[in-house]
Amino acid sequence: MNILLLGSGGREHALAWKMKQSKLCDKLFIAPGNAGTARLGKNVNINVNDFEQQKSFCIENNIELLVVGPEDPLVNGVYDFFKNQIDWKGFVIGPSKYGAQLEGSKAFSKKFMQRHNIPTADYAEFDATNFEEGKKYIQQHSLPIVLKADGLAAGKGVVIATSHDEALNVFEEMIINKQFGEASSKVVIEEFLSGIEVSIFVLTDGKDYKIIGHAKDYKRIGEGDTGLNTGGMGCVTPVPFVDKIFMQKIESKIIRPTVDGLSKEDIGYKGFIFFGLINVNGEPFVIEYNCRMGDPETEVVLPRLKNDLVELFISLHDGKLSETTIEFDERACATVVAVSGGYPGDYEKGKVISFPEDIPGESIIFHAGTKVIGNDIVTNGGRVLAVTSYGKNIGEAVQQSKNILKGISFEGMNYRKDIGYEFE
Ligand code: AMP
Ligand code: GLY
Repeated sequence: MNILLLGSGGREHALAWKMKQSKLCDKLFIAPGNAGTARLGKNVNINVNDFEQQKSFCIENNIELLVVGPEDPLVNGVYDFFKNQIDWKGFVIGPSKYGAQLEGSKAFSKKFMQRHNIPTADYAEFDATNFEEGKKYIQQHSLPIVLKADGLAAGKGVVIATSHDEALNVFEEMIINKQFGEASSKVVIEEFLSGIEVSIFVLTDGKDYKIIGHAKDYKRIGEGDTGLNTGGMGCVTPVPFVDKIFMQKIESKIIRPTVDGLSKEDIGYKGFIFFGLINVNGEPFVIEYNCRMGDPETEVVLPRLKNDLVELFISLHDGKLSETTIEFDERACATVVAVSGGYPGDYEKGKVISFPEDIPGESIIFHAGTKVIGNDIVTNGGRVLAVTSYGKNIGEAVQQSKNILKGISFEGMNYRKDIGYEFE
């Protein structure tokens, strides 16, 4: 079948790499893609939110499967748009606009978890109508206080305030000064949970589900988990503390109730759920839901997944997910992300990247922010490359990626040398 994939990051390069291996994949198109996806299929210059143009392209190119990488088009209703097109016969991997609120609205997801008794931090929500009440709530809240803009805020909408004054300032910035526009007109205030985070990935048709992998992400720019938050500087899998007992708790207390909740409430959901969890003294709590795969988690989860991904998408669409068995590569996988100088603050683009001549079989260079200019591949974003490797254990996989990174260069290049440090 012909496939159109939306997005342009490392996650999309990994999705394209995995789908391209399927015997069921004929032509693969990526909109808009990057220099890495261009080697696997054809990049097409269509915006991820331009559904009309995507539809014309799908009809002209006999696309039967539309896979959505990033959250934006999902929250904007790409699933519903295509579902209503009688002249297009394909299917979309992704939740409905309503279901995508699990990521698109913190208040929606907290209420959903409350209705289905899914463990998460205690919370309250406020907007301009009960702003004064919110200030009192903050003043009486224990420290630290977690404040979350309700809507999508490009990963910047969560603040962990360590004083009441800071929390009150953030609260006012978000609601009164509309720091994130409409996205912060409502704010969720929640209890701070202390523990190690892990991301769990599930494919669901809204009734059945399969766990397709998990990973630990390193979000801070600096070694030892210091400095500003980024989109993710590296990932490892499998995570040693996600053992059988912990996974059983995750399934029975979080995944099953979530999927049952979607089913009971008749929420259309045929796609990925990314559970952002925290391990609090051996008990899993939900920090957030995302309605897509993670980046850079995808760059380690898909290399470890042995199943044919296109086949899984078809099983999902046909309601046959329960008949499939998920298989994982025995090896560990790690990815280390090379970023532009200055990221996550301001950075320059257009730096020429040089690559090693030979890449050993146990490593894959996934492109994130790259594009082709003439004969060169140049930087085109903050996160530039995600170098993934297999290894006997996490330490070996990380070391292998770092060896490859020594052979890669572009002006200002930076990467964390300590990915997976707790597990070596
Ligand atoms: P989110 O956008 O909801 O993933 O939040 C971003 C990050 O903030 C998470 O990955 C956590 O590291 C942190 N965070 C969010 N909520 C909490 C919480 N209730 N307790 C502790 N840390 C949190
Ligand atoms: N790596 C975190 C995310 O994709 O949201």
